[in-house]
Amino acid sequence: NPEKPTIYKGLVGVYADVSSVSKVMPETNSLTYGGYAVQDLAETCSFEEVAYLLWHGELPNAAQLEAFKAETSSQREISPALQRVIREFPHDAHPMDAIRTAVSFMGLEDPEAGDVSDAAQRRKAMRLFAKIPTAIAAAYRAAKGQEVAAPDPKHSFAENVFHLIQGRVPQPEVLKAFDVSMILYAEHTFNASTYTARLVTSSGADLHGAITAGIASLKGPLHGGANEAVMHMLKEIGDPKIAREWLQSRFDHKALVMGFGHRVYKSGDSRVPTMRKYAEKMAEVVQDRTWMEISRILADEMLTKKNIHPNLDFPAGPAYYLMGFEIPLFTPLFVASRITGWAAHVFEQGADNRLIRPLSWYTGPEQRPVPPMAAR
Ligand code: SDX
Repeated sequence: NPEKPTIYKGLVGVYADVSSVSKVMPETNSLTYGGYAVQDLAETCSFEEVAYLLWHGELPNAAQLEAFKAETSSQREISPALQRVIREFPHDAHPMDAIRTAVSFMGLEDPEAGDVSDAAQRRKAMRLFAKIPTAIAAAYRAAKGQEVAAPDPKHSFAENVFHLIQGRVPQPEVLKAFDVSMILYAEHTFNASTYTARLVTSSGADLHGAITAGIASLKGPLHGGANEAVMHMLKEIGDPKIAREWLQSRFDHKALVMGFGHRVYKSGDSRVPTMRKYAEKMAEVVQDRTWMEISRILADEMLTKKNIHPNLDFPAGPAYYLMGFEIPLFTPLFVASRITGWAAHVFEQGADNRLIRPLSWYTGPEQRPVPPMAAR
């Protein structure tokens, strides 16, 4: 028998391919998209500019940005058929399952459904990028028995999300904080959902399949679902005075503390300081420091007692809550952003594809004869 090879469980430390989309540098807690530091993009650019960067490798000039915005805002409406299907979703369905199903449905009705050429995949990505917020809002409002709002082509990406979900466009500080969250969430190398999208693409399957699978992967609490879990945790604690005691009981039970730890970063997530700054601004706008105060205590204690740092989901959870979003919408909002990174990786995988097909080391029974039914 051959010797058992090294097993890379969880693919820890494995370089599975090359990529030019983004670079994560855990030694300096930094992340770049197309060579630009993510915190610089967050402070100076709009989410639309960053989406363009991820898909084209360069930031747009003024004319390119206008054309990109015009194209997306003209594609925001979802079909009457999808609106009908969404109204039939169970009203207690999780919004992540609703958007996963809606994206899959959009694959059925896509005008270029069978075409996986690069040009067609890019047009499909543009349509999905534009329509995902509309579908998230439609499912959310239908579940509440509310009218589904029509997207407004004059709105920016961020304005449109608030208009569709909350029925209002908030003040500029809130829009900026939301846009920052979209930029920080947009892309992060070979995370679980992005690798899922690349894996699906590697068999020659289409973009809607890859994104549907990406959404399914993102939902898990070890990945994108953590931003919802963080806010449930902060609400369960409820009062900064009991935060330390609550955390100690988690330690005693060897339980996970949501929003902490990361596979790649071991000394701090590059995106956290920027997101925390904007979450703090939201606490000022709403005049409620409870969640940021509990967060501060948890982060201090996790660092001193466990040497574990928060990840992006830790400040993003309370930021979205303070922006007025209900908790089950937090991971769908992550989808509305990460579609840009997923699609960039789908294009890259498609341009230089080789089927992803690793090996497994067998640990089951030795080969044996099939017993007749009476002998089992
Ligand atoms: C995202 O990959 C990406 O880029 C993802 C993401 C993106 O942009 O796409 O950054 C977004 O998904 C962020 C992660 C959100 N998940 C959570 O917040 C859930 C809580 N975190 C953990 O479960 C965990 O840290 C992971 C899943 C994020 C990482 O898991 P690893 O790399 O497999 O690390 P591990 O679980 O083996 O942890 C190492 C040690 C363990 O202790 P020991 O067994 O060595 O004693 O650290 C401990 C863990 O128990 N630990 C934690 C902890 N995270 C790690 N202990 C308590 N609470 C935690 N959150």
